[in-house]
Amino acid sequence: MSQTTYQIIDHEYDVVVLGAGGAGLRATLGMSSSGLKTACVTKVFPTRSHTVAAQGGVSAALDNMNEGDDWRFHFYDTIKGSDWLGDQDAIEYMCKNAIPAVVELEHFGVPFSRTAEGRIYQRPFGGHTLNQGQGMAHRACAAADRTGHAILHTLYQQCLKHDAEFFIEYFALDLIMDESGKCRGLMAWNLADGTIHRFTAHTVVLATGGYGRAYFSCTSAHTCTGDGNAMALRAGLPLQDMEFIQFHPTGIYGSGCLITEGARGEGGYLTNSEGERFMERYAPNAKDLASRDVVSRAMTIEIMEGRGVGEKNDHILLHLEHLDASILHQRLPGISETAKIFAGVDVTKDPIPVLPTVHYNMGGIPTNIHGQVVRGAAETIVPGLMAIGEAACVSVHGANRLGTNSLLDLIVFGRAAALHAKETIQPNMKHEPLPKDAGQETLAWFDRLRHANGTTKTGEIRLKLQETMQRHCAVFRTGALLREGINLVQDIERMMADLQVNDRSLIWNTDLVEAIELKNLYQQAVITINSAHYRTESRGAHARDDYPERDDANWMVHTQCTLTTKGDISFENRPVHLYTLTDDVAVVPAKKRTY
Ligand code: FUM
Repeated sequence: MSQTTYQIIDHEYDVVVLGAGGAGLRATLGMSSSGLKTACVTKVFPTRSHTVAAQGGVSAALDNMNEGDDWRFHFYDTIKGSDWLGDQDAIEYMCKNAIPAVVELEHFGVPFSRTAEGRIYQRPFGGHTLNQGQGMAHRACAAADRTGHAILHTLYQQCLKHDAEFFIEYFALDLIMDESGKCRGLMAWNLADGTIHRFTAHTVVLATGGYGRAYFSCTSAHTCTGDGNAMALRAGLPLQDMEFIQFHPTGIYGSGCLITEGARGEGGYLTNSEGERFMERYAPNAKDLASRDVVSRAMTIEIMEGRGVGEKNDHILLHLEHLDASILHQRLPGISETAKIFAGVDVTKDPIPVLPTVHYNMGGIPTNIHGQVVRGAAETIVPGLMAIGEAACVSVHGANRLGTNSLLDLIVFGRAAALHAKETIQPNMKHEPLPKDAGQETLAWFDRLRHANGTTKTGEIRLKLQETMQRHCAVFRTGALLREGINLVQDIERMMADLQVNDRSLIWNTDLVEAIELKNLYQQAVITINSAHYRTESRGAHARDDYPERDDANWMVHTQCTLTTKGDISFENRPVHLYTLTDDVAVVPAKKRTY
């Protein structure tokens, strides 16, 4: 069958930001307000981006509780939380800049909850401590339990004040790369009217979030399909540290909806079928507020050893009913409502059934602290391309992210990308002509997919992929289980060759949208499960039963994995940055991680 000829609509911008979550909007705001002609291209309406679902807070050592908190303690906690895989220069940058970045948010108008003195309210969160574990720090700056919602709406309002142009409900398909390896723009499909668009830019910023939907049970929105990561892969670029998948301890059993760690920050606790507060055994100091990987593993062990609750002994209980109802109403209104709707639980009376649920991808597109995409052990800069937020791997989270460092990552590195663009791009600089046939290869696969006439539906293949990842690449892993998973993923590749897309139209064709999202999820799943097989140690969220110890001699490295056009994969390791940017703080040497 011959390929459809698509009319292409061309656009030229100084910068194109792809994604309108917290990172994308913060970058868009910084770039447009500094006079750069900025387009923000987004699959969903900006205020529906997944940042809206972030609950518990954004971390910054403001010390509003006068307990002597300091950004250097935050730096230490983040390195320990990362199980020494985080790059210490990037962590210094993030923790130091957290304070002005949050104050800036306040000035933009984010409606933070307040202390009696009128300061930003801060609550404790897992792994955030004072002076290397001497007590829990109140460091999570919160707008009740709807912090992401408050930040996202404020940033969008701020963007509207400036001249950022939004291309809403445009689904990006591919990056446009030239022969020298420079990124020149991107291709996108306007879902509302079916037109195809080619954006040329001096810099493209990928702010497309994570790919939680590669798993069966996750806290992520259905839109979290890591489209930018897949675009980077198709451009021949590597993804870094993709084996590290964060399971949040408290997804609601059954639905996977998030119950914020802030619930434990306000005094909630977990019990097993014996009514035991088992975290006291696993983390005698931090208990229920140990780091997420530690709590998720403890819960999984309790269930595997037969101490789970419910008919199938397959989940754990989160108790909030002992807390004052006014605290629940004031500080945790969102999760009180979610628990009612999705678990039928009145949190003032009964515990919530919970289970570790996929929540965050520590891995992503490798970048430096300015948001520039880099590749390989030499960290060669990929010209014209940036990545920020969950799509990126700076790497500030290493092998395990601390709660509230995600919203922080978005605003600090969204701002950093904007600062870098301002320094390196002159408004309305001339564009070189695009490579001949730019975008044609993309339209070829787009058209093939649109006319796919196999027998297997997208939903069927996606479910198989999600179940495989959930079973074979979960909290605990072994080489044999992962190998079996890799084989199953290869079966899925065969199923994809038999894909059926029924809707051939171009206007609001959700059948085709889901097929493209599946292609994206599949490519990231391949990288994830192979990376997990490749790393033969246990570190942070990557727990291998067959290699139970952390192995700093061999594995204190970031893994970078590339997908060839034939579907083969290759690995390259790059050393962790064991240096800081300034003398304000000293490198934290690796040691055993206990809570
Ligand atoms: O538990 C939470 O509120 C999630 C926060 C985060 O992932 O940073």
